Amino acid sequence: MTTSTNAETPAETTFALLPPTRYQGSKRRICGWLGLHLSALHFTTVLDAFGGTGSVSYMLKHLGKCVTYNDALAANREMATGLIENGRTVLSTSATSNLLRRITSAAGLGFISETFRGIYFTDEENDWLDGACRVIPKMGDRFQRAIAWYALFQSAISKRPYNLFHRANLNLRIADVERSFGNKVTWDRSFDEHFRHFVKQANGAVQPTCGTCVASCCDVTDIVGEFDLVYLDPPYINDKGTGVDYFGFYHFLEGMLDYEGWPARVDWSSKHRRLIGEKCRWTNKRRVAVAFEEVFERFRDSRLVISYRSDGIPSIEELVAMLRRQNRRPLVYRHDRYRYALSKNKRSSEILIVAE
Ligand SMILES: C[S@@+](CC[C@H](N)C(=O)[O-])C[C@H]1O[C@@H](n2cnc3c(N)ncnc32)[C@H](O)[C@@H]1O
Repeated sequence: MTTSTNAETPAETTFALLPPTRYQGSKRRICGWLGLHLSALHFTTVLDAFGGTGSVSYMLKHLGKCVTYNDALAANREMATGLIENGRTVLSTSATSNLLRRITSAAGLGFISETFRGIYFTDEENDWLDGACRVIPKMGDRFQRAIAWYALFQSAISKRPYNLFHRANLNLRIADVERSFGNKVTWDRSFDEHFRHFVKQANGAVQPTCGTCVASCCDVTDIVGEFDLVYLDPPYINDKGTGVDYFGFYHFLEGMLDYEGWPARVDWSSKHRRLIGEKCRWTNKRRVAVAFEEVFERFRDSRLVISYRSDGIPSIEELVAMLRRQNRRPLVYRHDRYRYALSKNKRSSEILIVAE
C-alpha cells in the first residue's frame, strides 16, 4: 500500500468552494486537498455518487468537468439542482421579498404545526414552515425553486441544536440555562432573516457550467450511465460499528419537500416523527463490505476515487484488497489534520484512495 501525507498548501485555496454548511460529512474544508489529487487525473465525465452538499461536484464543475451529482436524499438533490445543475438563474432580492410575503400570508395551522408541536421548532416557526411548504412548490422556475428550497433547508439546519433532526429536543434551545455549546442567537434568529441570508449565499455561488452538469436522486446502485471517473464518499461507519444515518438525521427536510405525501410516510411510533425507511446498507457494519464490492464492480470501467476514514469499517486495507482483486492499482493518500464539525474523534484521519 503506498501512503503519502498531504498537508494543505496555499494552492488549495484556488479551488472553488460552496458556501459553508453544517451538513454532516461535508468535504468542503478539504476540497483543496481533494482538488489537487483530482485535477492531476485525466477525465471529462465524472460521477459524484454520494454527493451530499455538492461541495466536491461544485469544485469539479469549476474544473470544467461534466458532472453528474447524485444523492439518495431528495432534499440534497434539490439543493444541487440550484447550485450545480443551475448555471445562471438567481432569485433576486425583490423576488425573495415577494416570496416571503406570500409565505407569511400562507402561514398557519397545517401538517407541521399539528405533527411536530414542541419537537424541533416553536409554534410560530412551525406555522411559518407550513406556509413555506405551501408556497415554494408553486414557484414556476425550477432553478429559482431549488434556490428557495436550499435557503429553507439551510435555515432549518441552522436553527437546530446539533444541526440535526435526530431527537425531539426543542427544549435544549428554549430552556433558560447556561450552555456550553451551540449558538442560541443563530437558533432564535427568524426564518425570514435566515432565508434572506441563504438566498444571497446561493445566488453568489451560481456559476456558469462549461460541460453539462446534472443532479440526480437515487440509490448508488441504480445510477444509469458510464463515467470516466467515479468519486465515492459514502456514509462512514466508525470502529465501534456506528454508521452515519443520513436518512435519520435529515428526514424533516425530506418531509418538507414532499409536503403532500409526508403524512403517509411518517413513522408514528417514533417520538421525533421520523420517516418510515429501510435501514441503509452503508450504515450496517455487516453489509457494508458487500455494498462497496458491488459498487466497485458496477463501475469497473471507470477510474475510482474513494474518500473514507482511517478507522472506518471496512478498513482501508480491506478496501485496497477489494480493488486489487479487480486488477486495479490503488494509491492511498492521507490528510492528517482534518476533523469533522462536532466530531471529538482525534485518532482517525481522512483517506483518499485513487484506483486506476
Ligand atoms: C459523507 S456524505 C457525502 C458528503 C459529500 N461528499 C459532501 O462533501 O457534502 C454521504 C452521502 O451519501 C448519501 N447516501 C447515503 N446512502 C446512499 C445511497 N445508498 N446511495 C446514494 N447516496 C447515499 C447521504 O445522503 C449523504 O449525503
